[in-house]
Amino acid sequence: MPVTTVDLGKRSYSIQVRTNCATKLTAAIGKSCRTDRLFVFYDANLFALHGAEIRKALKARRRELQELVVPSGEKAKSPGVLKKIYGFLLDQKISRDDFILVCGGGVTSDLVGYAAATTLRGIRWGVVPTTLLAMVDAAIGGKTGINHKTGKNLVGAFHQPAFVHCDTRYLHTLPPREFVAGLGEVAKYGGLIGPKMIALTQKYLSSADPHADQPLVRLIHASAAYKAEIVSRDEREGSLRMRLNFGHTFGHAIERATGYGRLRHGEAVVLGLLAAIELSSLVNPRTAKKLRDYREMVISLIRQVKRVEIDEKAVLDAISLDKKRSAAQLKFVLLQGTGKPYFADNINMSQMRKSLRAMLACYKVHGGTDAPYSGRKRA
Ligand code: GLY
Repeated sequence: MPVTTVDLGKRSYSIQVRTNCATKLTAAIGKSCRTDRLFVFYDANLFALHGAEIRKALKARRRELQELVVPSGEKAKSPGVLKKIYGFLLDQKISRDDFILVCGGGVTSDLVGYAAATTLRGIRWGVVPTTLLAMVDAAIGGKTGINHKTGKNLVGAFHQPAFVHCDTRYLHTLPPREFVAGLGEVAKYGGLIGPKMIALTQKYLSSADPHADQPLVRLIHASAAYKAEIVSRDEREGSLRMRLNFGHTFGHAIERATGYGRLRHGEAVVLGLLAAIELSSLVNPRTAKKLRDYREMVISLIRQVKRVEIDEKAVLDAISLDKKRSAAQLKFVLLQGTGKPYFADNINMSQMRKSLRAMLACYKVHGGTDAPYSGRKRA
């Protein structure tokens, strides 16, 4: 059964991974919704493609829908859009008994989830993630928030949803670059989980049809199950959850250095993963052999990452900024082998530079040499 649970006592919730399954969604809403109305938020792109069918499924239960379409893209995670959401919710006199449903990718769930966390000190909510990245990462674990002019996700709250309902039908219309971005987070789990997850991902990557539902269900379920387990053990990122930042220290710095939006977050993560693999091998040369196949898999994704100029110094400066922000030492998540992550807080500038340089050399040769997945069923 493609269902997994985030185990948080009374706040536990399930993550369903299905195909064409509106009935499970309406059942989940039925369980969570205490009033006869439902507040529904859609990402604008998603609404154009699937709004009518989602609405039809939700209306079948004769519930009154209060709907709002929010802009797509990272810029929507702003105080301005958030203010509009507050205005909408409060004008409709939302109460603590009401329920919010969010349909969209990570930007939408971060943004609306934060509105849910902060309106009336917390409204219950559920998520229908509609991008691969949101299904395997962003929609799970209750991190919500918006961006601030000084950086991404700097204003936020933990607010766990009541359910996460993934349906692979939404991936049929996902733009190719978004697919690659989601696969960046999937590849991250390969490094953290180990050979079984890497084999599953490799099998998926070599399949003829990247939109085939069953392989996607398996990939999403395996990723979600791992994240659910980590969040269940360390909801507030005291320590264990930090391992989900594997590849992200470099990845975030690359996003900042290239200017937010030029690369998708998940694309920057693909590059960050290779840099973290290079760093792991630099710190412990015996690791290189153990990571060889995994490294090859990450490089196969780099072939699909759009080629943009990346300035080495700007990336290192961005990492230094990250370091200044964290009260403790900057921790890198490295691998002793696949499935063997550890934290390293003693990485010096020369090691960072060398591993970054190795990644950039590889990106220069391979980056963008393969077209990202084409959307077989794109509308
Ligand atoms: N995206 C990493 C986390 O949720 O902790």
